[in-house]
Amino acid sequence: HEEITKVKNINVIELGRYEIDTWYFSPYPEEFTKTDKLYLCEFCLKYMKKKTSLKRHSLKCDLRHPPGNEIYRSGNISMFEVDGKRNRIYCQNLGLLAKLFLDHKTLYYDVEPFLFYIMTEYDDRGCHMVGYFSKEKESPDGNNLACILTLPPYQRKGFGKLLISFSYELSKKEGKVGTPEKPLSDLGLLSYRSYWTQVLLEILKTHKGNLSITDISNISAIRTEDVISTLQSLNLIRYWKGQHVIHITPKTLDDHLKIYAKQTSKIDPKCIHWVPPV
Ligand code: COA
Ligand code: NA
Repeated sequence: HEEITKVKNINVIELGRYEIDTWYFSPYPEEFTKTDKLYLCEFCLKYMKKKTSLKRHSLKCDLRHPPGNEIYRSGNISMFEVDGKRNRIYCQNLGLLAKLFLDHKTLYYDVEPFLFYIMTEYDDRGCHMVGYFSKEKESPDGNNLACILTLPPYQRKGFGKLLISFSYELSKKEGKVGTPEKPLSDLGLLSYRSYWTQVLLEILKTHKGNLSITDISNISAIRTEDVISTLQSLNLIRYWKGQHVIHITPKTLDDHLKIYAKQTSKIDPKCIHWVPPV
């Protein structure tokens, strides 16, 4: 794609209490890329060239959390659902911000067909974005996630898997199975592999007896292809008489659980206040 070859145009952004080094090109309007650094309002994501503009803006901007509906709260973690059609500017600004950390996905201006799920961490100054994912309102390919980002200061703390977990909890509420849009980045695939592995091993641990791949898919909302590829990566599947069969002994399951079972925070489905749109 053409964008890949474009040279990085902004080196640093200021966002809330963080200064963040960027990774990739993002199509901010050219006049905003004349200097090294861009200043963003951490709540409405408006971008500015000067610190003084940001200070002036902060006096006027009333937002202390993302726009849209708070559909999840557990402890200091919340999730806001933002409609690309109702909050077009916010979602465009989010796409521009996300592109700084994504090398291939290219969604900036055509935000109306998407919903955006923003995860925040609360303190006495407001709800600070830690990351988000986007989702097509109608996905012919059965995608339950289009694009996912954890802001760099929050990476490698489990938020990526928490966002992924949320996307599957929404699919469960819709009574559907889902899969992320392809291609995934290396870091995206790593996070999904880890999430899928953990969920599948937990299901195999708690559901003794015969489980089919379809059963696992229905319990987890993870699409069968992703269940199969994960079981293959764990060497827990055989192809027998034209069918995939789970092949696992209590000993191998235990061995896998020792390696992969980690204490990670999870989405509490009881804290989701959301019904699928009709
Ligand atoms: N190097 C090695 N492993 C990494 C890693 C890195 N830089 N970043 C994450 N991981 C691993 C973690 O170890 C974890 O696996 P484990 O629990 O089995 O140890 C798994 O990936 C998920 O980590 P987590 O902390 O939940 O993810 P995160 O909050 O760092 O977010 C992304 C993951 C993909 C959302 C984040 O890297 C990101 O925003 N990347 C840029 C945007 C992108 O590529 N998005 C995906 C394409 S749409
Ligand atoms: Na620049």
